[in-house]
Amino acid sequence: MDPAVAFVRAHTRLRTTPFVPEVRLHVADDIGDLWERTAVSPREDCAPPFWAFPWAGGQAVARHVLDHPGLVAGRRVLDLASGSGLVAVAAVLAGATTVVANDVDPYAAAAVVLNAQANGVEVRVRLDDLLVGGLDEAYDVVLAGDVCYSRELAERVIPWLTAASERGALVLLGDPGRTYAPAHGYAVVATYDVPVAESLEDTGVKRTTILTPS
Ligand SMILES: C[S@@+](CC[C@H](N)C(=O)[O-])C[C@H]1O[C@@H](n2cnc3c(N)ncnc32)[C@H](O)[C@@H]1O
Repeated sequence: MDPAVAFVRAHTRLRTTPFVPEVRLHVADDIGDLWERTAVSPREDCAPPFWAFPWAGGQAVARHVLDHPGLVAGRRVLDLASGSGLVAVAAVLAGATTVVANDVDPYAAAAVVLNAQANGVEVRVRLDDLLVGGLDEAYDVVLAGDVCYSRELAERVIPWLTAASERGALVLLGDPGRTYAPAHGYAVVATYDVPVAESLEDTGVKRTTILTPS
């Protein structure tokens, strides 16, 4: 078995996603403990194990496409910064023709594979950094959950999503009020109160909006 897949299996339990009970995910108990275990170098040089939790932004996007399947049904979908793959799995369940889950963390790729299997769906995984260029494959819909938590990522991802929209893709960004969320150029299409782990967010519910370039 791939070592990253074995690691994800060993350190998570399959659980129902609070706001998206249609999807079960391999979820960890404690982010700090898991972060220590994934760190092969000093912790500050190692990405947090985002893949081990369903973040508020991803839960909102997943809920939105499951409740509005017409947005993705019969269409080619990209889940950018997929983490656990929650949004990608939801897009398949909502009827997307093909779904690509992209992340730059190899553990996320492993989590997506396991979570797709757990939900009996097919998702293609890409591990390259798509933000380096524009959209290099044809996607009708680009979904992104919780990508505005760092200035560095937000400064790359927001213009990239805007450009994808200008090229004709439907772009939906799920954001729970993160510091670096777009301040202008995006419109709110839906708002959800999403249950989250208090150990991650210091609150049990995050008000989360679905944004689209306006
Ligand atoms: C907070 S998590 C959100 C995961 C998932 N979308 C959700 O909402 O549950 C952010 C994710 O962005 C990924 N990420 C960071 N930089 C990226 C990049 N340049 N391209 C793709 N994904 C990236 C991280 O590895 C992480 O999995």
